Amino acid sequence: MLIRQIQTATPQPDALSLILKALHNPYTLVDRVVELINREPATAMRVLKIANSPYYGRSRKIETIEYAVLVLGFQEVCNVVSAFSLYDALRCPSDETFSLEEFWLHSCMTALVAQRLGSEKGMANLQMFFLCGLMHDVGLNIYHRYFHHAFREYAGEGGIFKGLALEKEEKQFGMNHAYAGKTLMEAWHFPAKMCEVVEKHHHPRVARIEEGVVHIADVLVNLMEWGEFAWDYGLKLLPGMVEMIGWESEAELLAWAERQDEDMRLQKDELSKVFV
Ligand SMILES: [Fe+2]
Ligand SMILES: [Fe+2]
Repeated sequence: MLIRQIQTATPQPDALSLILKALHNPYTLVDRVVELINREPATAMRVLKIANSPYYGRSRKIETIEYAVLVLGFQEVCNVVSAFSLYDALRCPSDETFSLEEFWLHSCMTALVAQRLGSEKGMANLQMFFLCGLMHDVGLNIYHRYFHHAFREYAGEGGIFKGLALEKEEKQFGMNHAYAGKTLMEAWHFPAKMCEVVEKHHHPRVARIEEGVVHIADVLVNLMEWGEFAWDYGLKLLPGMVEMIGWESEAELLAWAERQDEDMRLQKDELSKVFV
């Protein structure tokens, strides 16, 4: 029952389905993505706002989507569009059990860190890392929106208990949020590999580098306070993950994170402005 509800409840945003197609065929789809953005004034405005933000530090104002693609790159523009279309699709009133602002910032920042880790390690298909990071906790948004009564019960007295408790989730909902997220992604026709990354983000398998990268990004975003999420409270780095992606120790990973700190805080500030 729950699976069926997840599969049918949230229609896939058009922009996201086009961007998924562009994963396989980026060059032929640039024009269609640009056309789609131009057709939706709210999306176009957001892309231009981000493109002109101090983060990118352009001296010349970017006034068209075509120019934004040229200077920021197609992938970067796709990232902005995916993040905002997901925000629109999952929009819900916040309450004491769930903050949309916190959830969305956490998702975007995990996406950015996963992509940056992927790039640091010389991996291909960085957009895949971004999208997996973006979608990793979508299951919690589903609980909040469609199973609100059960979610409140799960959150305990006053809706204020938060933190990672996968077994408790399984008892309450019959599945944990990672599986719920994967179920939505399958309904939205994400590639199977990406669905698996989200399904396994709390239990990455050894030698599945993509799963390890999203797991590490999730931990770092909480630990470094780049976009912490109350429902991730208690999340820890699993043994062997740092080595799996080619670092010798956790200290080496943390030193890398320190070097990203200023930049990540700037990104977080820019994204936070969406809510003001
Ligand atoms: Fe999670
Ligand atoms: Fe998370």
